[in-house]
Amino acid sequence: MTSVTEARTAPRDPLPVVGGRFAPALGFRRNAVAYAAAMWRAHGDIVRHVIGPPGMDREMWLVHHPDGATRLLSASTSHAYAKRDQVHDEISTWLGPGLLTAEGEEWTRQRRYLQPVFTRAAVAGYADLMVDEIEDVVAEWDVSHAPTVDLSVLMQRLTLRVVVRTLFGDSAEGVVTHVRSSFPTVSDTIIRRAFVPVRLPAWVPTARARRGRAAAADLFAVCDAIVESRRGGRTAGRTDLLGRLEAVRDSGEHLTDDELRGQVLTFLLAGHETTSIALTFALHLLGRHQDVQDRVRDEVRGVVGDGRPTAASAAHLPETTAVLKEAMRLYPSAPFIGRMAAVDDEMLGHPVAAGTTVVVVPWTIHRHPGVWADPLVFDPSRFSGTGARPEPAHRYAWMPFGGGPRGCIGQHFSMVEAVLALAVLLRDHRVTALAGTDHLPVTSLITLAPVDPVLARLERIG
Ligand code: HEM
Repeated sequence: MTSVTEARTAPRDPLPVVGGRFAPALGFRRNAVAYAAAMWRAHGDIVRHVIGPPGMDREMWLVHHPDGATRLLSASTSHAYAKRDQVHDEISTWLGPGLLTAEGEEWTRQRRYLQPVFTRAAVAGYADLMVDEIEDVVAEWDVSHAPTVDLSVLMQRLTLRVVVRTLFGDSAEGVVTHVRSSFPTVSDTIIRRAFVPVRLPAWVPTARARRGRAAAADLFAVCDAIVESRRGGRTAGRTDLLGRLEAVRDSGEHLTDDELRGQVLTFLLAGHETTSIALTFALHLLGRHQDVQDRVRDEVRGVVGDGRPTAASAAHLPETTAVLKEAMRLYPSAPFIGRMAAVDDEMLGHPVAAGTTVVVVPWTIHRHPGVWADPLVFDPSRFSGTGARPEPAHRYAWMPFGGGPRGCIGQHFSMVEAVLALAVLLRDHRVTALAGTDHLPVTSLITLAPVDPVLARLERIG
């Protein structure tokens, strides 16, 4: 494999096509993470597929090196790539318009009006509400006396409640149930349709399309209820996401009902599942490494004492933050970041034709032995600057939040939320993982997903 420092300037011969015309799509649909990792091991840092029958085929390249991420995402070169790849296309078909899928001037307009909701000052203002929701979820668990938990279920509940309360000013009862039952169906529909050799139009009434449409309608109804409850005046005038959207509309800027609902749905989904995955795997790894967990607990008790953590205290928990970053390295919530080449370009020295789907793979970049020392070892000291395996200098060696102009708008929000959640939970509880390995089987819907429940024992301690 290529070293992270190797220069990539001279164009090379065209890449060979790998895997035939149908097997890659099937491999991706079966388990995208396992398939991409196997192709990387077999073929190296850049892998070219041509999918579908001749005349209806399309190219998909998988890129497993941080230099490829620089080209695809950074401000100086990302204009050559658009979000019109199959996955984003399906996301906007099934979930409606929103910041995640918008393009060009429309994206610039949306990002400008949404940015104020995610500044450091705004996020600091949400910290108290975040801690309220986190404490409530932990207290519910405390009274349930169920020692064994599925961390992914508990963390999904926690992050969904935080997002609904902080960004929409509402309570999440009802929302949790609907999102849990309907989002996996929509997500599955999106991924399966994105990776078929030949795509049927979304209106063709197959059984899958019918199920997808019913689940999407359920999510739309949840969003409409959130918007409606604000109109009812209970939390009118707030400066959260919903308040911002309504202020934009009141200012006379064009904002259709579809766009309002699309943004609510975008932030409801993008804003909880990703952070939930990060927390689930951080707790699993802490539950396997009790020495690290003890150090985190000591740090939290040293900073917070018996009190409530705040945005200010979250900034003074370097060990806790390092654990989260290391968990996100091993288990990036977004294991794939895709684009479509809008013009002819080059990728790691190979010519890419306009229309090619190029997918950068944080999952393999984060496990690349030419980039990270002992990549499969859980070692948070990489990020606290105290250990023997320092974080590589390459900007895209660690890239769970993507990067460049389309980097995650919620990065600071989610880091503060996740540090606060670990602080509240670990201050008074011990987590013991029940799986006998750091490395759990995963798959990928739109985001990373554990194949099995992530079981742990949770006990209250003095
Ligand atoms: C651990 C938590 C999170 C991770 C790992 C994560 C990851 C990402 C990644 C990789 C992207 C870029 C996708 C691309 O380039 O195609 C992204 C974009 C985005 N994220 Fe996050 N995210 C997280 C939390 C959040 C939160 C909490 C929110 C909102 C409350 C959020 C909202 C968004 C939105 C709206 C975009 C699209 C931004 C744009 O295109 O301008 N994310 N996220």
